[in-house]
Amino acid sequence: MAENIGKLEHKIALITGATSGIGEASARLFAEEGAYVILVGRNEDKGQQIVSEIREKGGLSEFFACDVTDEVSVTALFDHVKAKFSRLDILFNNAGLLLTNPLEKLDTDEWLRIFDINTHAVMYMCRAFMDLLIKSHGTILNNASIDGLQSNVRGRSSYMYASSKAATIQFTQHLALNYSDRVRVNCLCPGLTETNLFTNRDFSRFNDTIPMGRVAKPIEIAKAALFLVSEDASYVSGSVFVVDGGASLASGNTPKPVETKGSE
Ligand SMILES: NC(=O)c1ccc[n+]([C@@H]2O[C@H](COP(=O)([O-])OP(=O)(O)OC[C@H]3O[C@@H](n4cnc5c(N)ncnc54)[C@H](OP(=O)(O)O)[C@@H]3O)[C@@H](O)[C@H]2O)c1
Repeated sequence: MAENIGKLEHKIALITGATSGIGEASARLFAEEGAYVILVGRNEDKGQQIVSEIREKGGLSEFFACDVTDEVSVTALFDHVKAKFSRLDILFNNAGLLLTNPLEKLDTDEWLRIFDINTHAVMYMCRAFMDLLIKSHGTILNNASIDGLQSNVRGRSSYMYASSKAATIQFTQHLALNYSDRVRVNCLCPGLTETNLFTNRDFSRFNDTIPMGRVAKPIEIAKAALFLVSEDASYVSGSVFVVDGGASLASGNTPKPVETKGSE
């Protein structure tokens, strides 16, 4: 019987924010599909723990500690990847942060912090790694959010997060315009997903606002990421790929149906 070949066999994949949530699920899945996965994040203990678990299952991976908002650290990460592999096939810019506040409580430092991680870091990473990705006809996937596409009642105070994600969507599309002949570039827009991004762990509070009636599991977003970085998406570039259980259809604005008697 033919050996089962993974979708990412022989690929070198780098995932930022791989120590938790969507990035962690993606790191485990990409490794299962045969990639050598470079996990990037700040939490060394968690990163090394995930790497050990991947290796125990026969996967290939390593952790590199890096604050992706720091250009010097991004350069050190780039130097490491270039020296060790001389190439990169998949760059998944996934690290992110959610902070919400109403207008009157918006704080400039918080605003800059959100843009640093959700937007500026994506630019630092793409700028640093583009030449390596071109060399291997690789692919970039940037993790944005449906919040970057439209506003909704769920995220009424999402000024900082939504604005930073909208910028990332536009940045991704400009990259795709300029590089699609050499590097496929796509943007993932997940809906609500059960991760540590939220301090309030009661995710059932969102169920009524989502046509599928529940938030996503990280693995469900990771599977969409796998599709976009794999050869299955060989003709997909510049896409803004929504994975949200139908939430952006409802926009969270849909009032609950009102019981009426007779016809209206
Ligand atoms: N969960 C959702 O509902 C949802 C919906 C739409 C989009 N997203 C997007 O999905 C992405 C992943 O989020 P998640 O939901 O999986 O959240 P999460 O579980 O909180 O994971 C966030 C990851 O980002 C990393 N990170 C944060 N700041 C960093 C920095 N300065 N340098 C390096 N890594 C950093 C964290 O690692 P360290 O702590 O180790 O640094 C962590 O691994 C984010 O871009 C988020 O905006 C999430």
